[in-house]
Amino acid sequence: MKLSLFAVVSLVGLSSAFPADLLNAIADIEALELPSIYAALDLSKSRTNCGPTPCGVFNAQEQFVSTTGEHAYAKPRSNQIRGPCPALNAAANHGYLDRSGGFSPPFHPAVDLTNTAGVTTLPETVSGLGAAFGMSTELSAFLAAYAIIMNGNPLDGTWSIGGPPPTGLLGGLTSGLLGDSQGISYSHNIYEGDTSIGRNDAYLNNGDAHSLNVTRFASAYATGLGNDRYTLDGFAQDFLKKVQESIANNPYYFAAPFSTTLVAPVAYNFVINLMSNHSAAEPDGYLDGETFKAFFGVTGDYPNFKWLKGQERIPDNWYRRPSSVPYGIPNGFLDLAINFQAYPGTLRLGGNTNGVNTYVGVDLSDITGGVYHSSDLLNLKTSNAACFYAQVVQAVIPDGAAPLLGKLSAILNLVNKWIKPITGSFKCGIIGKYDQTLFNKFPGYKYRPKGQATIYKE
Ligand code: HEM
Repeated sequence: MKLSLFAVVSLVGLSSAFPADLLNAIADIEALELPSIYAALDLSKSRTNCGPTPCGVFNAQEQFVSTTGEHAYAKPRSNQIRGPCPALNAAANHGYLDRSGGFSPPFHPAVDLTNTAGVTTLPETVSGLGAAFGMSTELSAFLAAYAIIMNGNPLDGTWSIGGPPPTGLLGGLTSGLLGDSQGISYSHNIYEGDTSIGRNDAYLNNGDAHSLNVTRFASAYATGLGNDRYTLDGFAQDFLKKVQESIANNPYYFAAPFSTTLVAPVAYNFVINLMSNHSAAEPDGYLDGETFKAFFGVTGDYPNFKWLKGQERIPDNWYRRPSSVPYGIPNGFLDLAINFQAYPGTLRLGGNTNGVNTYVGVDLSDITGGVYHSSDLLNLKTSNAACFYAQVVQAVIPDGAAPLLGKLSAILNLVNKWIKPITGSFKCGIIGKYDQTLFNKFPGYKYRPKGQATIYKE
């Protein structure tokens, strides 16, 4: 069946449940013919702040995000953690996530270790991010599960939205069986990657990729200066600029399959899709400079910005995207595929090999034994993208959790419940050997800075 592009993206935009709607939406996307570069540019530029499909509805009561009472803003106290993700920081500053910045009791009660540890703590993350931003269940659960497995403690489901917490703050986290729970601030090439909107490449900032660089922020901010409106296409162009800057300035630039090929570019789309304000007049959302600055904890006027560490805020009188049109995994893959097609220079897997401007790419077919190809990420065949990422996430787990793999039912529970399902019932090509030795030629691949607690004090 061939559908019009609008019909197809409508299906994607409306897919709220998981996985039935997701399967239908992706199956229909697969029927699409690939657009030409010109069509891809047109498609990119035509997107609303809800994505290629307008949200189309506005319900003030449902979409209003409270910033008073239990959700009043409070800047982090000296023992509270904040990190590289402005949304997690803002959600914690408003009590939509635990204000400690680590998911600990009583907000996330530790569970019986013989039980499905970790899994029972995820609904709180999911409901917090759903209430604050309209992120879908399957997407926030996937992101949180990966954070718990790779950078937290799968046994009690704790993880840190910043760096390693000080001893005693989070009981289980520092003494977790993985022994090395660094939090997402120090997850370079695992979760955090180069070419972020506002954070430095880790190597260029002594390993600190969690603090905001106001010059990078100003570059993104400049894309909306003309009419005080920020768009998916404008941010896609800013991403291309930052990729080119990293290749030209960072000898350790490395685009790892998950952190830099997926997470970093997806975050640009998150800003537009999840931080835009909505109103009856503009139900598809609009993002102006003041809102962009508030979510990133930035004050001042372009280009003289100041970052208030860890003080990201949800603006007052702000209305998120509707719960009936949450931003989910199919939306994420579709926006990314459109960006990659419109600006092919943004799809990177590989890195600098011998100093700046020595970028060499790796094709997915080489690391997956021919099962997947880089073009799977460039075209609109999102089932291949979902299949590949679900497997990559599982394939890299031994990297971080080697001593425990196979013994730790908690990890497997998280994988089975929240990571494998992103492929739905697709018949995914199975990667026999995920050959990461091909990354050894990139100096940035081995760069793993470890850090201090990212507790932000004024
Ligand atoms: C459980 C859910 C989430 C996790 C585990 C998570 C994790 C992360 C991580 C590890 C980074 C650093 C990536 C990099 O190197 O660029 C990041 C950045 C970012 N995240 Fe999140 N995130 C989550 C939810 C969200 C949500 C709901 C939004 C939007 C509302 C969001 C928006 C962003 C943005 C805009 C950045 C880039 C910040 C910058 O470069 O200045 N994230 N997140």
